Amino acid sequence: MKKQMTTDEAIQRWDQHAEVFTVNYNEHGDVHREVLLNPAIFSLIEQTSGVSILDAGCGEGYLSRILALQGARITAIDYSKKMLEIAERKTPTELGVQFFHGNCERLDDLKSCTFDMIVSNMVIQDLADYEAAFSEMYRLLKEGGYYIFSILHPCFVTPKSGWIRDENGKKTHWKIDNYFYEGVYEQQIPVDSEEKIVFYHRTLTSYFQAIQQAGFIVEVLVEPKPSQEMLSKYPHFEEDFNISNFIVFKLRK
Ligand SMILES: C[S@@+](CC[C@H](N)C(=O)[O-])C[C@H]1O[C@@H](n2cnc3c(N)ncnc32)[C@H](O)[C@@H]1O
Repeated sequence: MKKQMTTDEAIQRWDQHAEVFTVNYNEHGDVHREVLLNPAIFSLIEQTSGVSILDAGCGEGYLSRILALQGARITAIDYSKKMLEIAERKTPTELGVQFFHGNCERLDDLKSCTFDMIVSNMVIQDLADYEAAFSEMYRLLKEGGYYIFSILHPCFVTPKSGWIRDENGKKTHWKIDNYFYEGVYEQQIPVDSEEKIVFYHRTLTSYFQAIQQAGFIVEVLVEPKPSQEMLSKYPHFEEDFNISNFIVFKLRK
C-alpha cells in the first residue's frame, strides 16, 4: 500500500466503519479503554469539575460523556460526520457537550488559549499531519494547560507486528518488524472484523521531535498495564504483560 495518504482519504474509512468500530462500546468505551486506556488517562487528569476540556477526535463520545458527568464543560470534535452522528445520538443534551465537525490538524473556528485541558484518545495515529495537530492543540490550550494523548505504542505495534504461534496455534511471542517505516498501513479493527482502518506509523523519535517543536514539555508517560481488579474481570489481559500496546503522553504548555 502507498506510503502516504491524506487525512481526508483516511477519514473516509472512519465514516465507513464507524458503526462496526463502536458496536461493542458501552459507558467505558471498548474493553481496551476500560482495562488500559481509561485508568491511564484518568491518572493524569488533574481536575474535571468546572474546567473546559476539548475532546479532540471524540469518536462516539464516551469520554466526553464521562468528563461531562464529572462537571467539565466539554467541546467535542471529530472529522468523521458518521462518528459525530453516533456521538450526538448517544449523548443526552443535558450533559451540555458541544459537538463540532472539524479536523484536528486545523481548527480555525476555535479561539486560541481556550481550554484548560485537551484529550485525544487514540486519534493522533489516525491523521496524516501530526505536527500540525500538535501545534493546534498547543495554540488552543491556555498557558499552563495540558494535553493528554494516547496512541498505539509505536515501538511494539508496528506495520508488521503480531503474535507468532506454535503448530497448535498457541501464542508464543510477539513479533515486531518495520519499526523505522514511516507512513500509512492498514489493520483490521476489531481483529476479527473484515473492516480495515488506516493508521500512520511514526517512530518514537519522530513523535518526540514533533512534540518539542510544537512547544510542549513532556511531563508524564504511561505505558498502561492491567490492574488486578481488571485481570479478575478480564483474565485474557494477562498477555498484556508481554508488551505495551499503548502509550499515553501528558504534555504541558
Ligand atoms: C480510534 S477512534 C477514537 C475515538 C475516541 N477518541 C475513542 O477513544 O473512542 C479515532 C477517531 O479519530 C477521528 N479522527 C481521525 N482523524 C481525525 C482528524 N484529523 N480530526 C478529527 N478527528 C479525527 C476518527 O473519526 C475517529 O472517530
